[in-house]
Amino acid sequence: MNRKTDYELLTGQLQALTQGIPYEVANLANAAALLWENLSDINWAGFYKMVDGALVLYPFQGKTACIRIPVGKGVCGTAVAEDRTQLVPDVHKFPGHIACDSASNSEIVVPIHVNGEIWGVLDIDSPFFERFTETDREGLEKFVTILEEIL
Ligand code: SME
Repeated sequence: MNRKTDYELLTGQLQALTQGIPYEVANLANAAALLWENLSDINWAGFYKMVDGALVLYPFQGKTACIRIPVGKGVCGTAVAEDRTQLVPDVHKFPGHIACDSASNSEIVVPIHVNGEIWGVLDIDSPFFERFTETDREGLEKFVTILEEIL
C-alpha cells in the first residue's frame, strides 16, 4: 500500500501558511487540516496542549475526542512523560491506550516543545495496523519543529 507522504512539501506548506500569523489556534487548526488532507488512511489528526498539568484537547480533524488526558496516561500522556515520540503499530497492545474512536488501530504521538518545555503533543490515529513508519516519524518530527517556531 502506498502511503508515502511528501513531508518536504507538507512542511513547506505549513511554513507558508503560518508565517507571520500570531494566532496559535488558527495556526494549529490549519496544521491539523493540512495533515488531514495529506496523510492517507487516518481517522484523527490534531493537538493536545498542556494546561494546568494535563493535556487538553486543541484543534483537530476527525471525530469528537477525550478532552483531558493526564500525564503518563494513554499514548499521548506517555509521550509527555517520556518526552519522546510514540510510534504504536497496534494500539490494543499499548498498556493504557485511550480509545477515543474504537476504529483506531495504530497511532503516532509527537511531543511539541516551546522554550525547552513540553507545550503539548501532535496526535494522529489510523484505522489500519502499522500505518505509521520511521519515515512518518521523521517527517512529523520535522513538521512539529516548524510549529515550535511559531508557538
Ligand atoms: N489514543 C490517545 C487518546 C487521544 S485520541 O486518540 C484522539 C491516547 O491513548 O492517548
